[in-house]
Amino acid sequence: MIKISTGVEGLDEMLGGGFPRGRVYLVSGGPGTGKTIFSLQYLMAAVERGEPGIYVTLEEPLSFIRENVDSFGWDLKQKELSKRLKLLDFYAVTFGEESFETKGRDSSEPSFSIIREVVNAVKAVRAEHVVIDPLTSIVIHEQRAGVKRYKIGEIFSELRKIGCTALFTSEITSSEGEFYMEEFLADGVIRLNKTIQDFDLIKTIRIEKMRGIKYDEQPRRYIIDERGFSVYHTEPVRV
Ligand SMILES: Nc1ncnc2c1ncn2[C@@H]1O[C@H](COP(=O)(O)OP(=O)(O)OP(=O)(O)O)[C@@H](O)[C@H]1O
Ligand SMILES: [Mg+2]
Repeated sequence: MIKISTGVEGLDEMLGGGFPRGRVYLVSGGPGTGKTIFSLQYLMAAVERGEPGIYVTLEEPLSFIRENVDSFGWDLKQKELSKRLKLLDFYAVTFGEESFETKGRDSSEPSFSIIREVVNAVKAVRAEHVVIDPLTSIVIHEQRAGVKRYKIGEIFSELRKIGCTALFTSEITSSEGEFYMEEFLADGVIRLNKTIQDFDLIKTIRIEKMRGIKYDEQPRRYIIDERGFSVYHTEPVRV
């Protein structure tokens, strides 16, 4: 099995090298836990290694994302010019006037038109990595649980077929012990969590599942600073 670096210091060690290649992963967490930064860091590391990647934003305008990552010194523009990185802005499609109907798409099937465009972009740059941020927004229109599960399964299957390693962010509420259907369907799940302990904010990362490999099951602390996202993989959470 070939493993690929997550680009996150400390997490590769927890995974015994990185993510098994060519599969579908979720980075799930509550608001502001760092899902977007994590997923972009993964992609930047891949592009640095010479492996092309696609990033799709659905809930935050691309211009904001560009500004947000400036402080990490990630030069998205230069990576785009090198044709190894393609950023797709679906924010306008999700929230703006450019609705699915005005784009001539079937409003009841937004998931398919998005995935179709992603697959085309993957082929155009021969991408090896895809980030979709977040999955939540693609299937939000579907109320029926069974249909939603089927659609998520189909989206994952499309991405597995094209041979990319895919990372989806996923928005979850903070209730411990709750599982989301996408977590059963993905090949691996990374959970980001924020809790208050004795008036202190504790941010932890945990590998909820990772099919096919042995991994560190313990939660570990993580930080986001000027160097980006990193994990203290050798320290216990409670000291
Ligand atoms: N340059 C930085 N230095 C330190 N911390 C930062 C920096 N940039 C962002 N952060 C931290 O990362 C958090 C947000 O990260 P990010 O946007 O990746 O979260 P998210 O989980 O994607 O949020 P959302 O649910 O809103 O999409 C911020 O709330 C902030 O605490
Ligand atoms: Mg985000």
